[in-house]
Amino acid sequence: MANSFGTAYAGEQMGSNVEIRRANFEDAEAISQVIVSTLRASNAKGYAPKTILRAESNFTPAAIRELFDKRSVFVAVAANKLVGTGSLDKCIVRCVYVISDYQGSGIGKQLMTVVEFEARSQNIDQLTIPSSVTAETFFAKLGYSVVEERFCDSERTIVMTKCLSAEPKSHS
Ligand SMILES: CC(C)(COP(=O)(O)OP(=O)(O)OC[C@H]1O[C@@H](n2cnc3c(N)ncnc32)[C@H](O)[C@@H]1OP(=O)(O)O)[C@@H](O)C(=O)NCCC(=O)NCCS
Repeated sequence: MANSFGTAYAGEQMGSNVEIRRANFEDAEAISQVIVSTLRASNAKGYAPKTILRAESNFTPAAIRELFDKRSVFVAVAANKLVGTGSLDKCIVRCVYVISDYQGSGIGKQLMTVVEFEARSQNIDQLTIPSSVTAETFFAKLGYSVVEERFCDSERTIVMTKCLSAEPKSHS
């Protein structure tokens, strides 16, 4: 595992070739596809179609490119295919998505390891996640606790937090 995520982080859990690295502008199209396909395949089970459509409209390639200025964006790559993404927006974790065919293989956890490492390197000691209903158990397994539930129209978001300060700054 590398200490700086300017360089690649090779996946350990899958025992295969999953690389977590910083995203670049050329990744925007593929990131959009990862998010949209995962919204349709996974999140659609917990949200109304209009909510999924609204979410999709927020993640066009152009919208993704704009986010690069504001967030630290990471991607997971397996066999030259972009299969996941996750990002840090100051102290808020956003857009953690792994395409359905690759879920359950440890990629989401690896993305979160990198996002948390990035947060520590920015001296952030508490992270907040506006989690989907779909991902609540995933984040709970990583130590995040529910602090609030928000409803916007019929969309339910579970706000979760985790204190990072008790954990080591380096995981190499
Ligand atoms: C949530 C998500 C990113 C997890 O990615 P993943 O690669 O499947 O997760 P991992 O394989 O690293 O799983 C890590 C652990 O969480 C558990 N887990 C993952 N997703 C889970 C789920 N939906 N429900 C229950 N447990 C889950 C795994 O079983 C694993 O447990 P273990 O460590 O005891 O073996 C992925 O399922 C996803 O993209 N979901 C839809 C998009 C979404 O809602 N993202 C959050 C937006 S805020």
